[in-house]
Amino acid sequence: MASPLNYIFLASFLLFSLCPSPSFALKKSYVVYMGGHSHGPEITAEDLDRATNLHHELLGSYMGSHERAKEAIFYSYTRHINGFAAILEEEEAKEISKHPEVVSVFLNRARKLHTTRSWEFLGLERDGNIGIASAWKKARFGEDTIIANLDTGVWPESQSFNDEGFGPVPSKWRGSCENNTKAGVLCNKKLIGAKFFDKGYTAAVGKRPSESPSARDDDGHGSHTLSTAGGGFVPGANVLGFGNGTAKGGSPKARVAAYKVCWQETQQGGCYVADILAAIEAAIHDGADVLSMSIGGSPEDYLSDPIALGSFHAIQKGIVVVGSAGNDGPAPETASNLAPWILTVGASTIDRSFTTYVALGSKKHFKGESLTKKALPKESFYPLIDAASANLPNVSSGQSNICQANTLDPEKVKGKILLCVRGVTERLDKGKEAARAGAVGMILANDVASQNEILADPHVLPAAHISYSDGKEVFSYIGSTKYPYAYLTRSRTELGTKPAPAVAAFSSRGPNVISPVILKPDITAPGVNIIAAFSEAVSTPFNVESGTSMSCPHVSGIAGLLKTLHPDWSPAAIKSAIMTSAKSRDNNGKPISNEIEEKATPFDYGAGHVRPNRAMDPGLVYDLNKTDYLNFLCAIYKKPSEIAKFANEPFNCSKSFNAVDFNYPSFTVPNLNGTVTLTRRVKNVGSPNVTYNAVVRSPPQISVTVEPKILKFEKTLEEKEFKVTLKAERAGAADYVFGSLLWTDEKHYVRSPIVVNPAFALKKSYVVYLGGHCHGPEITAADLDRATNSHYELLGSYMGR
Ligand SMILES: *[C@@H]1O[C@H](CO)[C@@H](O)[C@H](O)[C@H]1NC(C)=O
Ligand SMILES: *[C@@H]1O[C@H](CO)[C@@H](O)[C@H](O)[C@H]1NC(C)=O
Ligand SMILES: *[C@@H]1O[C@H](CO)[C@@H](O)[C@H](O)[C@H]1NC(C)=O
Ligand SMILES: *[C@@H]1O[C@H](CO)[C@@H](O)[C@H](O)[C@H]1NC(C)=O
Ligand SMILES: *[C@@H]1O[C@H](CO)[C@@H](O)[C@H](O)[C@H]1NC(C)=O
Ligand SMILES: *[C@@H]1O[C@H](CO)[C@@H](O)[C@H](O)[C@H]1NC(C)=O
Ligand SMILES: *[C@@H]1O[C@H](CO)[C@@H](O)[C@H](O)[C@H]1NC(C)=O
Repeated sequence: MASPLNYIFLASFLLFSLCPSPSFALKKSYVVYMGGHSHGPEITAEDLDRATNLHHELLGSYMGSHERAKEAIFYSYTRHINGFAAILEEEEAKEISKHPEVVSVFLNRARKLHTTRSWEFLGLERDGNIGIASAWKKARFGEDTIIANLDTGVWPESQSFNDEGFGPVPSKWRGSCENNTKAGVLCNKKLIGAKFFDKGYTAAVGKRPSESPSARDDDGHGSHTLSTAGGGFVPGANVLGFGNGTAKGGSPKARVAAYKVCWQETQQGGCYVADILAAIEAAIHDGADVLSMSIGGSPEDYLSDPIALGSFHAIQKGIVVVGSAGNDGPAPETASNLAPWILTVGASTIDRSFTTYVALGSKKHFKGESLTKKALPKESFYPLIDAASANLPNVSSGQSNICQANTLDPEKVKGKILLCVRGVTERLDKGKEAARAGAVGMILANDVASQNEILADPHVLPAAHISYSDGKEVFSYIGSTKYPYAYLTRSRTELGTKPAPAVAAFSSRGPNVISPVILKPDITAPGVNIIAAFSEAVSTPFNVESGTSMSCPHVSGIAGLLKTLHPDWSPAAIKSAIMTSAKSRDNNGKPISNEIEEKATPFDYGAGHVRPNRAMDPGLVYDLNKTDYLNFLCAIYKKPSEIAKFANEPFNCSKSFNAVDFNYPSFTVPNLNGTVTLTRRVKNVGSPNVTYNAVVRSPPQISVTVEPKILKFEKTLEEKEFKVTLKAERAGAADYVFGSLLWTDEKHYVRSPIVVNPAFALKKSYVVYLGGHCHGPEITAADLDRATNSHYELLGSYMGR
């Protein structure tokens, strides 16, 4: 997991740069975003020249010369995205942002990078599951869908990208492999594109990346994500013998293309926004069908977020864009990639674990995980020591407690099992320190922040990663006896573990901090201990990784299947199909939980856990077109002129459009003030002559009415509108509550979460004093009735009834 360190660094750097510098003007690289182009449907060489010239002229008018502008610009985005990346002085950047053609100017800063068993768990290998054929068969394994991945590149020799049995490259493909050599990336009929983008990195860092100029993956992350989305079948894939099985991607017969935008730097933070935009532009041009981006950063306004901006152009070309939610959970409001046109994916566990048990001298047992091939030398108990008590004389027990490098005293540790606490340093490095000090095994206990999040790592010594609460018990056992001892069992691959899925503690959470009216994440998918291809520059051919980086390409692969099966569906329809068919229960039949011992909510998993077989035949979809997106942008930005630039055509913002009416497959009202009515429309993508009924599960204290309650479709592709009215029944519940709306014809189950915060339903009790009554001296029952009625009438004249 990447740390937020690089952001903190950036933020302070920005502050620093605001101070006037007397000696020289500080230059930095920026992206100048100008919306879309008005090229015709066939983009010509003249179009491109004109666009480039326009950029030179615009910048030249600020720099005083065309030539200087040419020198400063290192990317001209001329095909789909309109804008350029250039080295500018801060003052220049500020001035340019006021130009009428310019939508936004933002710093070229870094974003960070945020599988064998997982597909069986998703039911893709099961046939006839409740009469639903496997999506793989149905969608011909994603045949000829093209999946583009923005990441650290690709290890082309990986068996996952072997092209045996693949026919000619689809004729619509315009991509290629840069540095198409054995040392670079040699393309084939499976891996059909490989490009690298490092000008943004170079401009921001001041030197080229140390890696060689090609899309070759020197890190492993990109090969892992690309093979998860579209890798072919590779039998006998395993990591040190664990999880042995056939590795494959979500769309095993898809073609894949790697766009290398992330370069090695501290903390994997080397994905620069100017490079990301250039790669998205290239992927659109090359003819990708699905764009997978396991990249993110802190949530940002769409107008300065390169992933949001680039994706907006991609979806207009029919490309499905899938992004990772981030690994900054379990705190709320951490999700990134928040634009409503991105399919944002959280991460959850699968029903496989790499189990090792911790046995204590007190006869207590705890279940842990590890990928260590080594077992303890003898099947017997060993002395147990906690690392806080095993510190070297020159270090504090606080440092040794977390098993930081060079903090443990071999005199105290040798021959023992060592209890280390998670946090601050890398988990694998703690194992190395334990081994250095001569420990025979390590128990790695979670700190309070990581709770029940257990990850299987290939430690250098026998090890068991255990939960926070189990760790506390081990500590109290150590404190309870003079001679504590323990044993660790050999780690084994276990399938069918329960409960699964559970939302991973690290998975970033909603609410959406940019537009609270859009629920994020949209969906959750497998992202814990996933086995997929890796870079042989750093490890074995396959490796285990965890993160929303891993769950994102699972959904990209499923989107690829949908593209093969329904080539004419819009990105929004594919997104809707994936969301409304998701499930909210685990393999115990209970509501999905999370790793912090709570019932998960839509802020953890969005619409639920992805269910590919059902997504292939969703029944109804909530579709969206360009007008819908533009109206949404108008509603949140209230700047019609900027929106017109986005649209690259004259566009009048609809004044009456309210963002809650955006045709999203989930319903979110962040501030329910009394009553609100949401409008939606659904399109029948199933057979004609079907009748759907609404089934509502109301959030607590909220009344939900749907009008009409029955939708009859005579034709396929027919659209029907309906309204959902939410009313806060009682005041006071100033927090989010959750429910759902399900449309069903008894064959399809089209489910959307309802997420409401009645925080603003601030009703209170008041006394209305009207003076005295004019009853006679004897007050009669009729007097009382008359008075009561007059009160009803008076108040009714304000409330309408
Ligand atoms: C091609 O890529 C390889 C390996 O990444 C690198 O060593 C070589 O310099 C590159 N060649 C060119 C012409 O950029
Ligand atoms: C993995 O499984 C295959 C097929 O069942 C078998 O041939 C191979 O030896 C196994 N590999 C390991 C390392 O267990
Ligand atoms: C403590 O001293 C040892 C040598 O005895 C040294 O190797 C180690 O780096 C020191 N640790 C710290 C944190 O200063
Ligand atoms: C988009 O959909 C809306 C609602 O169905 C429709 O009124 C509008 O004409 C559509 N716009 C385009 C550009 O297709
Ligand atoms: C926008 O509104 C103006 C004024 O009502 C009208 O003249 C123009 O045709 C409209 N443009 C579009 C694209 O609808
Ligand atoms: C649907 O129902 C209508 C009217 O009942 C009928 O005319 C039509 O043939 C039916 N269509 C199909 C495909 O069954
Ligand atoms: C709620 O609605 C009422 C009436 O429409 C309005 O006066 C009040 O300001 C609203 N409260 C909030 C917090 O928006």
